[in-house]
Order: sequence, then C-alpha cells, then structure tokens
Amino acid sequence: MNLLKEKQEVRDIVTQARARGRSVGLVPTMGYLHEGHLSLVRQARAENDLVVVSIYVNPTQFGPTEDLGRYPRDLERDLSLCREVGVDIVWNPLEMYDSGHRTWVVVEELTERLCGISRPSHFRGVTTVVAKLFGVVRPDRAYFGQKDAQQAFVIRRMTQDLDMGVDIVVCPTIREADGLAMSSRNVYLTPEQRTQAPLLRRALMAAEEMVATGERRVATIRARVEEVLAAATLGRIDYVEIVNTQTLQGVEEIGSESLLALAVFFGKTRLIDNTILRIS
Ligand code: PAJ
Repeated sequence: MNLLKEKQEVRDIVTQARARGRSVGLVPTMGYLHEGHLSLVRQARAENDLVVVSIYVNPTQFGPTEDLGRYPRDLERDLSLCREVGVDIVWNPLEMYDSGHRTWVVVEELTERLCGISRPSHFRGVTTVVAKLFGVVRPDRAYFGQKDAQQAFVIRRMTQDLDMGVDIVVCPTIREADGLAMSSRNVYLTPEQRTQAPLLRRALMAAEEMVATGERRVATIRARVEEVLAAATLGRIDYVEIVNTQTLQGVEEIGSESLLALAVFFGKTRLIDNTILRIS
C-alpha cells in the first residue's frame, strides 16, 4: 500500500495504471474509518483493479460553528485498516486548496432541502472537494454510502450535469448491533445520548411497518416517526422529511419509492439516518 500526500504523485500512479488498462475505484472519506467506510472499500476492491482511498477532513464543508477543529482523526489506525482490506493507495492530501482558490461547484435546489436547511454551505464544500478528488484521480467508479443519502444524490447529479464520466456506486448503510448507523461522529455521544441514539433507526422502522400495512399518508407517518423520536428525551429533531427519491421534493402520499430522511441533534452532535419506503 502506498501513502501519498501530493496530488502529482497520485496523478502519476493512476495515469500509469490506466495506461496499462487497469480500472480505478475511488472511496472519498474524511478518515476515522469504521465498518461503513470499509464496506465501500470492499466493494471498490471487488470491482476495480486499483483502489484509492482519500482521507481528508475537508474544511469547506463545515459551517463556521461546526466541528471542524474537533473532528476525530487517527491516521495510523486508518492506514492499518486500509492495509487489511487491500487498498492500493491512500491519498492523505497535505494541501487541497491553494490560496488562489475561487471556484465552487454548486448543485442547485437539491442542496437547499433536508440537511441543506441547517447546513447551508455544506454541500457546496462537498461537491467542490469531490470534483477536485475526481479531477486528480479520474476514477472509473466512486463509492458513497446510502447513510448520507442526500450527499450521494447530489454527487450523482453533479457527475451527470458536468459530464464527469464517473460511475457513482451507492452502498447500503452499515449499522451497529443496536441499529445505530455507524458514523465517525458517534464518538461525540455521551453514554446517555448513545443509549437513545438507536431510536432514529426505530423511528424509521416504525414508518416501514406502517407502509407495509397499507398506510400512504405522509402526515400520519411523519407524526408516528416524531412520536417514536420523542422518546429520545436528550435529542432535538432537526427534520423528518418524506420526499420523492428523484427530485427530493416533499410528497403528501408515499409513491412507489419515497425517501424518509431525518436528522436529530444530541447536544451539538447531529445524527442523520434514512430509509427508502417502498410499496411492493
Ligand atoms: P465521511 O463522513 O468520512 O464518509 C465517507 C463515505 O462513507 C461517505 O460516502 C459516507 O456516506 C460513507 N459512510 C459513512 N457512514 C456509513 C455507514 N454507516 N454505512 C455506509 N456508508 C457510510 O461523507 C464524507 O466523509 C465527506 O462528505 C466526503 C464525501 C469524503 C467529502 O469530503
């Protein structure tokens, strides 16, 4: 496994690999890796000749009052996990933006809903850094988690709109045994908050059950989700939304496929989760 810091080194190795006809898979991360990240890496490993994992805590996607300074980091541990799952290149950029940086990639509308409401500049940071990562690695495929459903959706839109020619692969959410979606931010939770956090998954499951037994009214389902979440006495709901999976617009009735997404604050820690509600 190669640990690289410079863009040019990454570019050179990937260019050589491609010249030899090898396919390239990229897994962008902010590090502090867990099984969720590793599931993306395993899928990339299975589908590509060369696997690149980027580890970069991207400052431009954090709001001014968010957790950039205290975001958890452990590069040594990340490197040994990457070695175990057979990563070829870890790219841990020293510098991503130079002082003259003036260009932003903005996906309109889709980024103004759901997480975009409480994190107004977040997605432009994500799309800009992902466009830069794509620009350096020029992967055939890039891997993202369903856990961040809106992010995956926005990145797919960007890739399509800007003809980037990268195949976006979205992988299922990996959870702890009690249902909590794995996240690097789970370490922020106090023991009491941690015991309440699985209620996010339970609320999603309550909605899935309602749809399975015939309920179609979004208002009714949403009320039930909020009722389950109310048991998280240490939590504060940021949003509970049911939207069309193609447009991310709110719906009044469950369609053949709708996205139920939610975000809950525990203190300053914001947890997100989602499920696709399907009518079978
Ligand atoms: P990060 O939060 O480190 O997540 C990296 C990737 O892992 C994302 O695609 C995310 O959806 C996926 N992931 C996280 N938790 C997961 C889980 N429990 N199950 C499955 N996949 C999971 O998302 C980012 O970093 C950044 O925004 C990034 C795309 C790297 C741009 O900076």
